[in-house]
Amino acid sequence: MRKNFGAKPILYPQPVFIVAAYDENGVPNAMNAAWGGLSEETEIMICLSADHKTTKNIQATGAFTVSMADAAHVAQCDYVGVVSGNDVPDKFEKSGFHSTRSSFVNAPIIDELPMTLECKLISYDPESCRLFGEIVNVSAEEGILNDEGKIDPAKLRPITFDPSNDKYIELGAVVGTAFMDGCNL
Ligand SMILES: Cc1cc2nc3c(=O)[nH]c(=O)nc-3n(C[C@H](O)[C@H](O)[C@H](O)COP(=O)(O)O)c2cc1C
Repeated sequence: MRKNFGAKPILYPQPVFIVAAYDENGVPNAMNAAWGGLSEETEIMICLSADHKTTKNIQATGAFTVSMADAAHVAQCDYVGVVSGNDVPDKFEKSGFHSTRSSFVNAPIIDELPMTLECKLISYDPESCRLFGEIVNVSAEEGILNDEGKIDPAKLRPITFDPSNDKYIELGAVVGTAFMDGCNL
């Protein structure tokens, strides 16, 4: 038997994106976003409410970064998702995060989060809340790379949002090899 939950924003796994942008004075701000993903090879889509400070900042500067929330910074990542820069002007400072300007786009990279997409705004529609960005660069701290120089999820320790129980869950073990395991059937 299946239980029907009706029309709900539930799927697994949901990302925990930390979206960051400068305001027109170069002050960084960041927010938490779970509703998003890749929409083309070098394009990302995130559903962002128009009233968020981050959304206004992205529209003002035309740029933003998307960092992967990780298990080492759960409290900071949740904080930026429950407090608004509209109400707390020094929200970014209060979160405990620090930032460095991206060399690719006019947006802050959060120093503490080791993997980041650096993006240019393509379009934003306040009616649908859909924001599209071009991924100009992906950067990662050397400390989360494996011997082949690739990103190692076991070192990155990204978290996923569990919308049924309002929990953050760390991604787990490798269970297969993509583009290969299915070939045996
Ligand atoms: C787990 C989680 C997921 C969230 N996902 C989204 C989202 O996908 N889109 C969105 O507009 N807001 C989302 N939010 C809400 C914003 O992060 C929140 O309103 C934040 O305070 C906005 O900050 P700002 O006004 O400083 O930009 C999420 C919050 C949490 C805690």
